[in-house]
Amino acid sequence: NYYAVIMAGGVGSRFWPVSTEQFPKQFHDMLGTGETLIQKTFSRLAKLIPHENIFILTNEKYNDLVLEQLPQVKQDQVVLEPAMRNTAPCILYASLKIKKLNPDAVMVVAPSDHWIENEDAFVDNLSHSFDYAEKENVLMTLGIQPTFPNTGYGYIEYNKTDINAIKKVLHFREKPDYETAKTFLSSGNFLWNAGIFIWSVKSVTTAFQKFQPSMYALFESGYDTYNAQGEEAFIDENYVKADNISIDYAVMESADNVYVIPATFGWNDLGTWGSLYDKLDKDENSNAVVNAKVFMENTTNNIIRTDKGKTVVIDGLDNFIVVDRGDILLIYPKDKEQEIKKFMTIVPKQ
Ligand code: GDD
Ligand code: MG
Repeated sequence: NYYAVIMAGGVGSRFWPVSTEQFPKQFHDMLGTGETLIQKTFSRLAKLIPHENIFILTNEKYNDLVLEQLPQVKQDQVVLEPAMRNTAPCILYASLKIKKLNPDAVMVVAPSDHWIENEDAFVDNLSHSFDYAEKENVLMTLGIQPTFPNTGYGYIEYNKTDINAIKKVLHFREKPDYETAKTFLSSGNFLWNAGIFIWSVKSVTTAFQKFQPSMYALFESGYDTYNAQGEEAFIDENYVKADNISIDYAVMESADNVYVIPATFGWNDLGTWGSLYDKLDKDENSNAVVNAKVFMENTTNNIIRTDKGKTVVIDGLDNFIVVDRGDILLIYPKDKEQEIKKFMTIVPKQ
């Protein structure tokens, strides 16, 4: 009864110029390990979930990339979205499809582009969550110990004196402002939401019915076509009508049956060049070099990556991102990494 959906519809604009709209970061080998992020995600989940029960949710335009990179996956496991509507609509749609295949299914929803260390611990936390979600009407999350007031994450409030391994969540707060995030951190009762959810198809569809009744009605009206004739026509016509909203705002903030397991694995959402730098091996001058031959002097704390193992010569550079990809060369201060996303639209496509 175990299923997974991998969300792979984002464009990863802060990883431009490697990540582009045509070829987003989840389809790249960002860590230089020989596997792309989506391939790593698939094999991690396949430790607990049968191959044929793993679905990939993505935009129509990435269908070929998915099939190419995941040869184990059949076309009917790739759930295609005709438009970008954030995570709530695609999760509801996929949950209803899985429910129709197996009404007793329990599923994990996972991002396609994260770094996870200690996969055994990950599988252990996941399997524990599946057990609980199979028995109870709950929405399970995995919580990460926060280290700084990051405003790009969801925060999970729980009672620190709760001695249960699976803890009741008091509040789920998506992307608080900086001041609020600071108070969350100092209170010590908050974890970061890893963006990985575990629930039964019954629990998640019930939650949508309650908190997003019009979105639920929209996708429910096509139920007869799911995994059958007419599905594509129904989705093509109706998907665009769904609100553009993430699962975090649409369901998690409102639900009162959210639970959390504090994660025992290492986690990083690889959101920026800087977070990737943190996870890569560094040389004695703290430079992270991917796919390049380097000759460097007085050069420290940089991330350097080329497409084809190019030779890079640098003197006197500190704390920069140096990325050579196709016709584009990016040389950009690491502490302005959040601004890189604007170039995806400013710089003309090649
Ligand atoms: N299929 C599909 N369709 N996938 C999508 C879409 C879409 O329209 N939009 C985003 N995704 C994928 C992204 O590729 C990513 O893997 C995942 O869904 C989450 O989307 P993000 O856009 O990266 O979300 P976020 O980082 O702002 O916030 C979420 O993740 C944080 C942890 O990384 C939230 O769940 C936060 O609460 C959480 O802390
Ligand atoms: Mg993210």
